Amino acid sequence: MRIVELPPAEVRIFPNPDLLSRGAVDELTRVARQAVAARNRCTIALAGGSTPRALYSLLAADQQAGRNPLPWEKIHIFFGDERLVPAEHPDSNYRMARESLLARVPIPSGNVHRVETERGPEPAAAAYAAGLLETFAVPAGTWPSFDLILLGLGPDGHTASLFPGCQALDEQTLPVCATWVEKLNSHRITFTLPLINAAAEILFVTQGREKQPMLRNVLRGDPSGVIHPAQRVRPKQGRLLWMVDEAAAGAL
Ligand code: 6PG
Repeated sequence: MRIVELPPAEVRIFPNPDLLSRGAVDELTRVARQAVAARNRCTIALAGGSTPRALYSLLAADQQAGRNPLPWEKIHIFFGDERLVPAEHPDSNYRMARESLLARVPIPSGNVHRVETERGPEPAAAAYAAGLLETFAVPAGTWPSFDLILLGLGPDGHTASLFPGCQALDEQTLPVCATWVEKLNSHRITFTLPLINAAAEILFVTQGREKQPMLRNVLRGDPSGVIHPAQRVRPKQGRLLWMVDEAAAGAL
């Protein structure tokens, strides 16, 4: 592993996806144990898509093997975004996380905060936001601060469901919103930038050669001057950490 210090993020580059997953699991475990030791609770938002499946599965295997056991009764799991599909749909981020991790660890069902997509876009976003604010119980006007938010990077520079040109990118008052994604011809539910940027730690996990050009644009700036959604992830006080494999980091 080699570390490249890039303002304002630390970028850890791993030789291959397996070592990347191991690095991400060890970081998630470290954050969770530290949060529980400090505040008797940990709040984590999981990323969707396909990349995280391997690290979620590795974390579950660790836990089942008794490696770095986590106090799951003190851990609350949210989702940084969700597709507007039923929970059992193959495209559901909740389903992916449940299959790879949540069904394999002793986390109380009340600690898993699913987006109730069956309500429809706006009601689902409103209910999810209400549940989030209730869990954090923060004073009005303050942003809940997740101990850890996991994010992925799309080849178009999106993260969570903050896609280029979508109105959710401009949301500054709600923690969660429903957003229409033209290129997908569908709605998504997503964390907004103020909520993401209030986190204590944000961890991007990105792998694969196809992410090379966008990873370079996001970390070193796009020569065209375009600011991509993932570049707007800048924690106000928290830590921004990227974990990538060499295949994705080839252009850094
Ligand atoms: C989603 C994700 C999305 C994802 C990126 C990267 O719901 O699709 O939240 O933001 O993280 O698209 O996806 P991969 O990791 O599958 O490349």
